[in-house]
Amino acid sequence: MTGASSGIGDAVARRLAAEGTHLVVVARDQDRLDALAAELRDRHTVEVEVLAADLATEAGRAAVEVRLDDRHRPVDLLVNNAGFGTTGDLVDLDVDAEDQQVQVNVLAVLRLTHAALPGMVMRGRGAVVNVASLAGLYPTPGTATYGATKAFVCSLTDAVHEELRGTGVTATSVLPGFTRTEFQERANWRPQGYLPDAVWMTPDEVAAAALDGAAAGRARVVPGVAYKVLNGVTSPLPAGARRNLLGLTRRLGL
Ligand SMILES: NC(=O)c1ccc[n+]([C@@H]2O[C@H](COP(=O)([O-])OP(=O)(O)OC[C@H]3O[C@@H](n4cnc5c(N)ncnc54)[C@H](OP(=O)(O)O)[C@@H]3O)[C@@H](O)[C@H]2O)c1
Repeated sequence: MTGASSGIGDAVARRLAAEGTHLVVVARDQDRLDALAAELRDRHTVEVEVLAADLATEAGRAAVEVRLDDRHRPVDLLVNNAGFGTTGDLVDLDVDAEDQQVQVNVLAVLRLTHAALPGMVMRGRGAVVNVASLAGLYPTPGTATYGATKAFVCSLTDAVHEELRGTGVTATSVLPGFTRTEFQERANWRPQGYLPDAVWMTPDEVAAAALDGAAAGRARVVPGVAYKVLNGVTSPLPAGARRNLLGLTRRLGL
């Protein structure tokens, strides 16, 4: 489970531990992972392994790949949740931060999924849950790289879901809308007053939908009724209309 030190990942880890699932928790912040692990071991009598790794680095990704490949300690559920965004027009942004975003949001998801699948397929059971975003369904001016990374996650997971048919293993992407976590602050994104409370989901609501969707073997999960409706209304729009609409909201500073 990556990105377990905060937000949606923390909520997923808590739900899994409460169900009695042993965990390997991955993120950069060792102190936060250690604190989470101690609390979950204490509360739920589960084993929680801490694996501090920076998924923006080759060494960090390799450490998690090696753990996933360990046939003596099989992992039956991989949750690729670690991720971050940046805010601003691409022309103004530091390209190194955009590059890191691709490493964490794209490359780590690809490599960890690839490392987990052979053991799962061999055992005839398992699930991969990739946390994407509704931003993966549209071009997202003002956070272009982020939307593009999440589009990759949606497409990869859909394709792998189909490839896995009949194996007993499933791949599910989760497409949350606005969720109150550290994400916005880390992305240097300041939500304006126009965003009503009703649009915000809690990390636990997203975690519950993600785990339910994975248990049901679904290809895609959009948490929350309002976001399901929004997705249903906007999906049939032609790609050009969606691009223009998102471009307009950016120009209006929304
Ligand atoms: N919040 C939203 O509105 C929203 C909406 C749609 C999708 N999402 C997606 O949901 C996922 C979880 O985000 P969140 O909202 O829970 O945000 P968050 O509270 O900022 O959590 C992000 C997690 O990712 C980890 N992470 C970031 N960079 C990392 C790196 N280089 N190596 C390893 N771990 C790294 C962080 O841990 P460390 O800092 O300890 O490394 C943290 O545990 C992300 O993929 C995000 O894109 C969020």
